[in-house]
Amino acid sequence: MANPLLEVKGLTVSYGDVRALEDVSLEVEEGSIVALVGSNGAGKSTLLKAIAGLLHPSRGHMLFNAEELGRLSTKHRVDRGIVLVPEGRRLFQTLTVLENLRLGAYLPRARANFDESLERVFGLFPVLKERANGKAGLLSGGEQQMLAIARAVMAHPKLVMIDEASLGLSPILTRTIFELIVALNQQGTTVLMVEQNIHMALNICNRAYVMKTGNIVLSGTGEELLANVDVRKAYMGERGGKL
Ligand SMILES: Nc1ncnc2c1ncn2[C@@H]1O[C@H](COP(=O)(O)OP(=O)(O)OP(=O)(O)O)[C@@H](O)[C@H]1O
Ligand SMILES: [Mg+2]
Repeated sequence: MANPLLEVKGLTVSYGDVRALEDVSLEVEEGSIVALVGSNGAGKSTLLKAIAGLLHPSRGHMLFNAEELGRLSTKHRVDRGIVLVPEGRRLFQTLTVLENLRLGAYLPRARANFDESLERVFGLFPVLKERANGKAGLLSGGEQQMLAIARAVMAHPKLVMIDEASLGLSPILTRTIFELIVALNQQGTTVLMVEQNIHMALNICNRAYVMKTGNIVLSGTGEELLANVDVRKAYMGERGGKL
């Protein structure tokens, strides 16, 4: 790959005796959208958490801009530009939209870019500007997902990792969220997204990895995987298949 922003090599992660990732390798090219798909329990969230520094691998390497991440705390990884939008959004429900956004920009590098980032966020998500002084807990599900992504953008990220952005959202809202992810990417932010909505994810991504029980079993461009008969059978309702 010409310009990998993130390289994961031979990563193994366990929860006690449960091995959740086994020898996982992937690359995320700078400026791209990469989708990570696969069945429940495959290890997708575990991989994002390991990259974010929330879980510690027993083996393997992670390089970001060719720098080894292994020794860096989560906070230092955020400062390098790696930000996770966790599954379930984890907003501060009783704080306002603006207060939640402010919390996304808590590190010095992000604070220095606060005004510019806020302008960018309000450009991408005008509804958050309208609701800036309302409580986060009163937003709709789709708006809360927008706020979760917007909070990540406030950290001035190079790589945004999004775990299940479409979870619990209607097809229309899912489409809106996906369009926002594409817009964010077109502004120069690299995206690594875990998605259950495999068809839509493969449509917007440059590259995708399919995971099964702790391993990557297939990878390719979105187009290649959309055309792949095993992917279609396993995840898109067609009969039969090996995945
Ligand atoms: N805190 C934990 N303690 C023990 N086992 C865990 C823990 N979190 C996850 N696991 C196990 O690790 C494996 C991978 O889980 P993970 O959450 O990464 O999967 P996933 O691909 O994100 O699944 P889903 O699509 O359901 O979100 C599963 O077998 C899961 O049961
Ligand atoms: Mg998960």
